[in-house]
Amino acid sequence: MPRSPVILRALPALRRSVAEMRKENASIALVPTMGALHEGHIALVRLAKRRADRVVVSIFVNPAQFAPHEDFGSYPRTMKSDVAKLAAEGVDCIWNPNVTTMYPEGFATRISPEGPALAGLEDNIRPHFFAGVATVVGKLFTQVRPDFAIFGQKDYQQLQVVTQLSRDLDLGVKVVGLPTVRERDGLAMSSRNVYLTPEQRRAAPVLYATMRDVKARLRKNDDLRKAMHQGARRIEAAGFTVDYFEARHAQTLAPIKSRDEGPIRLLVAARIGSTRLIDNTAA
Ligand code: PAJ
Repeated sequence: MPRSPVILRALPALRRSVAEMRKENASIALVPTMGALHEGHIALVRLAKRRADRVVVSIFVNPAQFAPHEDFGSYPRTMKSDVAKLAAEGVDCIWNPNVTTMYPEGFATRISPEGPALAGLEDNIRPHFFAGVATVVGKLFTQVRPDFAIFGQKDYQQLQVVTQLSRDLDLGVKVVGLPTVRERDGLAMSSRNVYLTPEQRRAAPVLYATMRDVKARLRKNDDLRKAMHQGARRIEAAGFTVDYFEARHAQTLAPIKSRDEGPIRLLVAARIGSTRLIDNTAA
């Protein structure tokens, strides 16, 4: 049986714990999460274990990345079962600060990312989101000082933003991306899937199915614009309101008009009822 992870809630204790790992010359991988852990998160933890000697998982529902009308208050919090899952994976340390530890009274400094954070995707719909993510990830990286940090491709724009953040601020953290873990019917796993009614859950696989269909059409040299347009209509016909359905350059996230403009990433965000889902895939 692996040892239970230590659960740390204060910075001095985290620093001591990290210093001990370093004294043993151990490499450290960090997996930042907001808890409500599912198989996607667990796959990140497994990759972290393969990459480094010690694994730190942070669980922090970050108020700075939620807009006032979003679900910060009701975001699923399942600490007990999260700890059990991480213990079963042999995680060494759970970093679980509270909001005042992360943002003490008088906190007044924010990271304001540009480049991929202004690509016109999530940032169009959630203008303060990436400043909130970059600020907390910048803090997590300096608190834990890991060698690696593992993020999911599920949040593709976020992955590009934190990769750029580590590089631009010389944080010395190698950001590693993991392909999206899916349910059997193709729906990307997400902590927010629990919000779906049974009927919405039945409709939800249309996002991935449509991206796969567009990908197959592009392979046959179908017109990109037409395929994207028809794809968006199909997603709407399944009951979604589409925030965006776009073909972008896989690295720069710049808009793309045809297949020869570079490796393509298809990205979608759509709402059904009060739930918003995002997904993406290579094409
Ligand atoms: P959260 O939504 O909890 O996701 C934590 C990590 O799990 C992210 O890197 C996300 O991309 C990854 N992830 C989520 N679902 C996945 C799936 N189905 N397959 C693979 N990876 C998946 O993303 C955040 O938290 C926050 O913005 C955070 C980075 C922790 C900053 O607060």
